[in-house]
Amino acid sequence: MEVFGTDHHKIIYGDALQALETMVPDQTVDLIFADPPYNIGKNFNGHIEKWDTEDAYLEWCYRWLEICIRKLKPGGSFYVMTATQFMPYFDIWLRHKINILSRIIWHYDSSGVQARKYFGSMYEPILFCVKDKHNYTFNATDILIEAKTGARRKLIDYRKAVPTTYNTEKVPGNVWEFPRVRYRMDEYEHHPTQKPEALLERIIRASSNAGDLVLDPFSGTFTTCAIAKALGRKCIGIELEEEYIKIGLRRLDLAAEYKGQKLQRESRSFE
Ligand SMILES: C[S@@+](CC[C@H](N)C(=O)[O-])C[C@H]1O[C@@H](n2cnc3c(N)ncnc32)[C@H](O)[C@@H]1O
Repeated sequence: MEVFGTDHHKIIYGDALQALETMVPDQTVDLIFADPPYNIGKNFNGHIEKWDTEDAYLEWCYRWLEICIRKLKPGGSFYVMTATQFMPYFDIWLRHKINILSRIIWHYDSSGVQARKYFGSMYEPILFCVKDKHNYTFNATDILIEAKTGARRKLIDYRKAVPTTYNTEKVPGNVWEFPRVRYRMDEYEHHPTQKPEALLERIIRASSNAGDLVLDPFSGTFTTCAIAKALGRKCIGIELEEEYIKIGLRRLDLAAEYKGQKLQRESRSFE
């Protein structure tokens, strides 16, 4: 295991379970975003993530889920992702250990390959959990979005004693629409399952405050840590693949080179 960065913005190169147990004290983290391998055969820099059985995958997940809960402060929040087919197991397991407040659908459009013999998957599920449902951070006013009824349709609510216009802004519901990260987007990195910055921005703004500690045990391209840093939060990111550690060091501006190699963004075919 290797550690890079500073006390405030730390990158750990190693296995998530081992790093969490040995490098992160219990009850010290304000917000955890966990986006693990989904057991669907993705290629992470040459490593195909596929367990022998579904049960083996779930057993592994229950181990890190339990550790993550232990690392959270009493007022901490936990966002968890996995593939649609495994989320029901996570949900049933987690509801005995923590409070699930929202079952979020991250919906995206897909102009790519479309299923022809069934309804293709156009979403990924996210569970939003808190340790204490009477004491947790939720900065509703920091994540307001346009309320179409008030902002675009300009309707008046005549049910009120004095007719009033509808609000022009609202707290998002549990269906979130963000485009997936595509090759031509500025934020694109060479990784098969990079999450959009906008999605992490909503989560981090809602469920943490400036100076709080945000942790991502499966950092990939370090989207969580990059946004946490940009928003004035502290962060710890853990990742198993060296290639992605390099992306993290560059994205968080923690190093200019790695083992004598200059850290540069891979140029894309149109650049
Ligand atoms: C779904 S991706 C995360 C993507 C990330 N949210 C992003 O925005 O780029 C899961 C990541 O977990 C990493 N990983 C797999 N097993 C791991 C383990 N045992 N410990 C730490 N990282 C692991 C993979 O290399 C992969 O980059």
